[in-house]
Amino acid sequence: MTVSDLASWEPELPPAVTQLMPGDARSIDLPASSVDLVVTSPPYWQKRDYGHEDQIGLEPTPAAYVSAIMDCLTEWRRLLRPTGSVFLNVGDTYYKKSLIGIPGRIEAAAVDAGWVVRNRIIWAKDGGMPEPAQNRLANRHEYVIHLAPRQSYYYDLFGYSEEIGNGANPGDVWHINPERNMGAHLAPYPRELVRRAILLACPPQICLTCNTPRRRIVARTRQLDPSRPQARRAMELAEAAELTDAHIAAIQATGVSDAGKALKVQTGTGRNSLSVQVLAAEAKAVLGGYFREFTFARRVTTGWTDCGHHTPGRGVVLDPFAGTGTSLRVANDMGRDAIGVDLTPLMPAVNSVAGS
Ligand SMILES: C[S@@+](CC[C@H](N)C(=O)[O-])C[C@H]1O[C@@H](n2cnc3c(N)ncnc32)[C@H](O)[C@@H]1O
Repeated sequence: MTVSDLASWEPELPPAVTQLMPGDARSIDLPASSVDLVVTSPPYWQKRDYGHEDQIGLEPTPAAYVSAIMDCLTEWRRLLRPTGSVFLNVGDTYYKKSLIGIPGRIEAAAVDAGWVVRNRIIWAKDGGMPEPAQNRLANRHEYVIHLAPRQSYYYDLFGYSEEIGNGANPGDVWHINPERNMGAHLAPYPRELVRRAILLACPPQICLTCNTPRRRIVARTRQLDPSRPQARRAMELAEAAELTDAHIAAIQATGVSDAGKALKVQTGTGRNSLSVQVLAAEAKAVLGGYFREFTFARRVTTGWTDCGHHTPGRGVVLDPFAGTGTSLRVANDMGRDAIGVDLTPLMPAVNSVAGS
């Protein structure tokens, strides 16, 4: 595996395409290992009648509904590349006055079926439809469950943080308000929800020969945040002592705990390791306590992994309950190929089913 720029393969790629197929989410006419990310919102249990005999959502019991969703997951597992995953937007349902716990039941069934449930993201909304019940709070959140068939999957937390903010450890609550186009009937979800899932888990490019996604390579710079007095002082000291990039890299490689030990500990695991420790100790002698500042220095993307086959393809997003096609449009806008499946694509006939 070598490294190269992501853009260097772009000229070889055809424009992003959208494919829309009528069909059932449980049996999709696509080859195995052809999808990178499933991002979708199935009909919730007992919420709407889409007027199709094969529709999911109107099963008589929660267990039957969860079983239908599990049939979907089994099919999607077949379609996913080895590094693929699923972002499933699902809400709960009140039945006989009680929440039924649909998202939790899906999670439990998925774990039992061998899926890795990696996140239960809360999609929190400030606004929403008025609700008639006067003895409970209005429902203002749904779930986005991130599931992976394997423990290892494509994930670009750095790219996500760069776009969305929230620092190096962004949280699992997404505040996204409903969009104007979200009529009660068609139940589209917000574009921002899809965008976040794609940023996190759909590679921009994959190798069509070996299915390896190109992954971002990130390195620390020596750039500190000049708005912080401690960081400014650290930069002054480093400049005055003419610390080299190798010194700064050594601090970052050894981390906070090891740098001070380097001159005392003479048994490294190898020559490089020892020389790095010595450089780190020299830098620490100059910087004193300020050396820690460089362990927080800004990180940048320095390249993307390159498996060497040079047979690039765009990452592929599948929405098996495509509805009005929100996922497909967002995927194309982000340079991914998009495949949509729906029993009644784009124009579902919908009747509301009450539930409070
Ligand atoms: C909640 S809507 C999806 C809305 C979509 N996220 C959007 O932004 O427009 C659910 C969709 O699932 C479709 N559907 C219901 N049962 C299905 C099944 N068994 N297979 C495929 N699609 C199904 C309905 O026709 C409907 O369009």
